[in-house]
Amino acid sequence: MSLVATVATAVWAMLPAYVPNNVAVLAGGGRPIDGGRTWGGRRVLGDGKTWRGTAAGTLAGAALAAALNAGEPAVSGAVGVPLPTFPPAAMVALPFGAMLGDVLASFLKRRTGRERGAAFPLVDQLDFVVVSLALAAVAAPAWFGDVFTLDVLAAVLVLTPVLHVATNGIAYVLGLKNEPW
Ligand code: CTP
Ligand code: MG
Repeated sequence: MSLVATVATAVWAMLPAYVPNNVAVLAGGGRPIDGGRTWGGRRVLGDGKTWRGTAAGTLAGAALAAALNAGEPAVSGAVGVPLPTFPPAAMVALPFGAMLGDVLASFLKRRTGRERGAAFPLVDQLDFVVVSLALAAVAAPAWFGDVFTLDVLAAVLVLTPVLHVATNGIAYVLGLKNEPW
């Protein structure tokens, strides 16, 4: 695969995993998933992980995957790269995995004494990709093997932190997010 094809495939295939966290920031609020419970004197997850944000993020990612499926022929033609479509299992696993990864990272942050909003370098940038990819690999193994060849996986691991830092920086400047990470 050419570098352009590799990067285009990586970004396209991960869009349903990139969008949920940003939608959660916009839609979040209300009852926290941990219901305020603590463990070892600290919150299990914290007020930053809510049912509404998690549900909205997952639904938005799945809806985006459906939209990408519909637009695939036109976009593949325009870019000149055969882009993948998303089977139903991947449409759910990618966004749900992204939200789950973010929740697991908060769990780790609280266990390591980091307050809500504290930075956790690398974990903040990669938690959602790793769990998203893992769930997709389990939910749709044949599709995952076809799409995420080693070069595409490498592109995802390099591009994701860059895109994550950029989008969160923009959300911070726009006043949508309290911290730029
Ligand atoms: N959010 C949410 N539900 C989620 C994830 C995020 O409601 N599952 C919303 C919350 O309003 C949260 C904001 O998006 O405050 C920013 O998300 P994030 O940076 O992931 O959370 P933090 O508040 O920084 O908390 P933590 O330290 O636990 O990551
Ligand atoms: Mg944060």
